[in-house]
Amino acid sequence: MNIYIITGTSKGIGKAIAEELLKDGNNHVVGVSRSCSIKHPNYRHQPLDFSDIPAVEHNLQKVFLPYKDAEKLVLINNAGVLGDIGYVGEGMPNERFGFVFDVNVIVPAMLMNTFLEVYREQQAQKVVVNISSGAGKYPVDGWASYCASKAAIDMLSQVVQLEQDKRGTGARVFALSPGVVDTNMQGQIRESDESRFSSVGKFRDYKANNELAAPEEAAVKIVNFLHNTGNYKEVLVSVRDM
Ligand SMILES: NC(=O)c1ccc[n+]([C@@H]2O[C@H](COP(=O)([O-])OP(=O)(O)OC[C@H]3O[C@@H](n4cnc5c(N)ncnc54)[C@H](OP(=O)(O)O)[C@@H]3O)[C@@H](O)[C@H]2O)c1
Repeated sequence: MNIYIITGTSKGIGKAIAEELLKDGNNHVVGVSRSCSIKHPNYRHQPLDFSDIPAVEHNLQKVFLPYKDAEKLVLINNAGVLGDIGYVGEGMPNERFGFVFDVNVIVPAMLMNTFLEVYREQQAQKVVVNISSGAGKYPVDGWASYCASKAAIDMLSQVVQLEQDKRGTGARVFALSPGVVDTNMQGQIRESDESRFSSVGKFRDYKANNELAAPEEAAVKIVNFLHNTGNYKEVLVSVRDM
């Protein structure tokens, strides 16, 4: 039995990954997000709002149940928000920085910490995949908090992999960029105002020219990657290379 704990399974990339995994009867998925849109005998949903840190802390033990028979334990930190699009110093409410970091960095870090602690003594193969973005590797005007949060996820993943290597646990940690995928997040990007995000035209063109990957397409590549993590030596990986 393989256990996949995936955040953000209600829509977009996370839902597509969960549905792809559930095609194999040996896989069980625990989904975590505010709403639930998957019904399957091997799927369990834990509702959680990542902007409510005390509630997340309070409910962590419901996410990471004992799975004594698991051969493989995988955590996919996929839930994420773009936050407000706009320039820093031009009417951006201060609390929005905290919101983006809570959902994109703090809760993924808490989940990774708890996952590695709870299953530390278990002999199963352990993998953590933090969904990152190219936006964590280069600056995009209008996306300050999103870019910074994804850069943080990249470094967090690299540090935790280093620690697992030093402890010799065999656990693997990745920060995976999924490419440009046709989800609600891309819809939010296309709706933004050019004066607050200069590259909006490029993202509108991706959609108009059919250059966005379908979530199901990205999910097939990510699931294939999950079956072959041994072939990947680096922490930072991209769907573009899969
Ligand atoms: N789409 C792209 O082109 C693209 C490119 C690069 C990276 N990414 C990354 O890929 C990941 C998935 O993005 P997506 O495009 O699939 O986005 P999406 O369609 O907007 O889905 C986001 C998921 O995150 C969950 N989520 C959002 N806010 C949450 C909260 N407060 N608490 C708990 N869960 C929350 C949502 O569930 P609920 O609303 O039910 O809570 C939903 O399931 C993100 O980390 C994103 O940064 C996407």
